[in-house]
Amino acid sequence: MTLTDPPVSQGSPDYRDSGLVFPESFIFGSATASYQIEGAVDEDGRGPSIWDTFSHTPGLVWNGDTGDVAADHYHRLEEDLDLMVSLGLHAYRFSISWSRIQPTGRGPANEAGLDFYRRLIDGLLERDIRPIVTMYHWDLPQALEDEGGWTNRDTAYAFADYATILGEAFGDRVDTWTTLNEPWCSAYLGYGSGAHAPGRTDGAEALTAVHHLNLAHGLAILALKPLVTNNPNFSITLNLHVLRGEGETGPEAVRQIDALANRVFLGPLLKGEYPADVLEDTKAITDWAFVLPGDTEIIQQPLDVLGVNYYSTTLVRLWDGESDRQNADGHKDVGASPWPGADRVEFLAQPGPYTEMGWNIEPAGLEDLLVALHEEFPNQPLMVTENGAAFADEVVQTDDGPRVHDEARTDYLRRHFTAAHRAMARGVDLRGYQVWSLMDNFEWGYGYSKRFGIVHVDYDTLVRTPKDSARWYKQLVSTRTLP
Ligand code: NOJ
Repeated sequence: MTLTDPPVSQGSPDYRDSGLVFPESFIFGSATASYQIEGAVDEDGRGPSIWDTFSHTPGLVWNGDTGDVAADHYHRLEEDLDLMVSLGLHAYRFSISWSRIQPTGRGPANEAGLDFYRRLIDGLLERDIRPIVTMYHWDLPQALEDEGGWTNRDTAYAFADYATILGEAFGDRVDTWTTLNEPWCSAYLGYGSGAHAPGRTDGAEALTAVHHLNLAHGLAILALKPLVTNNPNFSITLNLHVLRGEGETGPEAVRQIDALANRVFLGPLLKGEYPADVLEDTKAITDWAFVLPGDTEIIQQPLDVLGVNYYSTTLVRLWDGESDRQNADGHKDVGASPWPGADRVEFLAQPGPYTEMGWNIEPAGLEDLLVALHEEFPNQPLMVTENGAAFADEVVQTDDGPRVHDEARTDYLRRHFTAAHRAMARGVDLRGYQVWSLMDNFEWGYGYSKRFGIVHVDYDTLVRTPKDSARWYKQLVSTRTLP
């Protein structure tokens, strides 16, 4: 990707007067992930995942929060399906919990686990909502982690077996299959910085995990191919980093992070090779001997759609070794760096405004990202599989009943949809947009302290209240026109 080039459009223009229309075929939806919303962690034969272990380890998640109950979606499936209907969603992007299907990550399918997703998928189809399945959204069965997790090559093969089970169960009904969600997080936060489960802090392990995740993706598509009979759309979702460089050393810092964050995935996935500079930059950490002959051919499977998650941008330069070092990449509250081999890169604070995560709001970054991808891979269809914002929301009682006036979130979404529309006007083949998130949920290391939902969840009563942003989104979906 050429995100090392100067950004095509800077700043955040006010898009309020746009009135832009999206095409008939555009898929508007919303997204969630299993561990973040389901709860019911001990039910119907589900085995523990690395996030159960991690969240139950004191001190690793804010406030000691866990996904034990989460939004209790497991028990409120029908209500949540009806909620999606009330918002007029075309699609629902959700993930399947591997350890519900195979409690130890291996062996025969747990029918009760399959049943839950059968009810979900059939419930969506009955309501004319398209299921977009993510097969892995970070909740690795703990038993596989005990054998090395993503540092163990066998995990990639276990993932292919899991894919076979899913393909056999749902291949006649689900057309859109996303293998992995944000493997960057699984590898670098899980094995590099330790901010995510399983909480390991070893750069070499992080890079090994990168490769095994890429391999798992390729093996899973090969396993699914004969089983998905209904208009197959194979996909992976990446959190590509939109990088801005500061000063003279900006371009070199951008190159290093672009290599580790973006090209280490895009290279094998879309070009059949790892970028030479990644191997060079990390040679003191690993010799990449875990890449075996034939692996890159397995990884490079045609992608019917590439999923893009976008929230904000990243500003970097090289540290001069003297001034106080800045580390504003959002991982400063953990000890280790998630960036093996990029020891001199300094992450700079960005100008605001910010969301509740402290992430800067820069809609133009989404346009830049989509256009850069299109320029480098002109025939690659894209989908925004996540975009959204956390803000501190409050339920207020009105004559109209309970409401959440989340104007900032609506504004964020309006601006980002506009940016996506601008990218489409510039030739990007963008198939759809899944807002993160359908409902407030367990925000990983931040627990329940950050609310990303367009639907509010009261964690005491589990009552759902559509926020004003959901009302706004409903209007966008039904008119295809940015209000
Ligand atoms: C990306 C992840 O896929 C999702 O799980 C997370 O909640 C959002 N970003 C917000 O951080």
